[in-house]
Amino acid sequence: MNVLIIGSGGREHAIAYKIKESPKLSELFIMPGNTGTSQIGENVIINISKHTEVVHFCIEKKIDLVVIGPEQPLVEGLADHLREHRIKVFGPGKRAAVIESDKIFAKKIMQKAGVPTGYFIGFPSNMHQAVKEYLLNKKYPCVIKANGLAAGKGVTVCNSYDDAESFIEEIFDNKIFGEAGEQVLIEEFLEGQEASVFAITDGKKFVCLPASQDHKRIGENDTGKNTGGMGAYAPAPIITDKLMDEIKSRIIEPTLKSLSEDGREFIGCLYAGLIITSTGPKVIEFNCRFGDPETQVVLPILKGDFLKLLYSAANGNLDETAVEFNGSCAVCVVAASKGYPDSYEKGFEIEGLNFSFPDVVIFHAGTKLDQNKIVTNGGRVLGITAINQKGNLASAKSKAYEALNKINFRNMYYRTDIADKALKN
Ligand code: AMP
Ligand code: GLY
Repeated sequence: MNVLIIGSGGREHAIAYKIKESPKLSELFIMPGNTGTSQIGENVIINISKHTEVVHFCIEKKIDLVVIGPEQPLVEGLADHLREHRIKVFGPGKRAAVIESDKIFAKKIMQKAGVPTGYFIGFPSNMHQAVKEYLLNKKYPCVIKANGLAAGKGVTVCNSYDDAESFIEEIFDNKIFGEAGEQVLIEEFLEGQEASVFAITDGKKFVCLPASQDHKRIGENDTGKNTGGMGAYAPAPIITDKLMDEIKSRIIEPTLKSLSEDGREFIGCLYAGLIITSTGPKVIEFNCRFGDPETQVVLPILKGDFLKLLYSAANGNLDETAVEFNGSCAVCVVAASKGYPDSYEKGFEIEGLNFSFPDVVIFHAGTKLDQNKIVTNGGRVLGITAINQKGNLASAKSKAYEALNKINFRNMYYRTDIADKALKN
């Protein structure tokens, strides 16, 4: 099978690495890819927002499956465009991808389907005065979210009226999220540990991969700004088998059904971002794709044929037995450019990439080749994933940091407490 992966992050490197294991694979292309993906497939430089060019490439290379990694091309309808040309795609069409790009829509789907989530109220930007009055009478903390896509940065937990009002000013007056901030949600603050669950679905049937836990904040002990994710581990022990059954029956199944009834059949990976509260799991967000860096820990702990799984979903006949959990565990630590998630410098040479450790995979994200040197080219630069075959999380963690210590680039920043939450429990 010829496969094209769309995207250029650590997630896409992890997807490429897993698909590469499949005996069904013939040729693997990544558009545009990164330095890591160029070592296992062929990077293709075509602007992915030019859908017609992507379609032409697929026809020319006889692509059997396109896997779309990031939300932006999904929300822009790339999957629809490819399907119109009878090209098989793993990833939802535009009408289903709104579950991520319109948080108020997602809340309404959840309300209709009876899915547990925090209460919320939505306000458009022309109601600034009404928002102020609402915030004055609110209990804190509360959570404010820009309604649209904001690269994981559109959410703030506000501890006081002043916090809340200044975030609203940033969104409504300074327009830091542009159109994505045309509406905001003010949401109940939920307490508990977070977990990410990926449901692979053909629109009707689904299978859940092992749960993982991301580390969204930039600082140690979950402090500071939200980022795309600074590290992850899987499986997440907080998600017991009983809880997973509840997540499937009360969250995933009714959401897929509700989307389908609304004429928005979802084919791809439905990512449920959850908080496990004292009254059970509640959804804080849905994404229309795999998580990053969660993919870098979930895929390495699967056995079976991942390509077969994705193809069967894209083909409308999910093979629920194509992959299963292999009993191991994985920890991924993200090495970022100092300054991220705000501004940072790039173009620094990365040293130490030639070391090889058993059961360690270095996933590239913001890297590029510059005069035969691999240099930093983004906020999140690398994801160092270590696997422990026996499922020993403490060993996986120390191996990930041991490998990370061999790597160096100017202004490298990483958190030292990835997976500690699970280890403390
Ligand atoms: P999101 O982009 O919606 O995943 O939100 C980013 C982060 O904000 C989450 O990972 C949580 O840490 C936090 N967050 C979002 N919604 C809530 C909520 N309702 N209660 C508490 N924390 C939240
Ligand atoms: N790691 C969070 C996300 O992918 O949205």
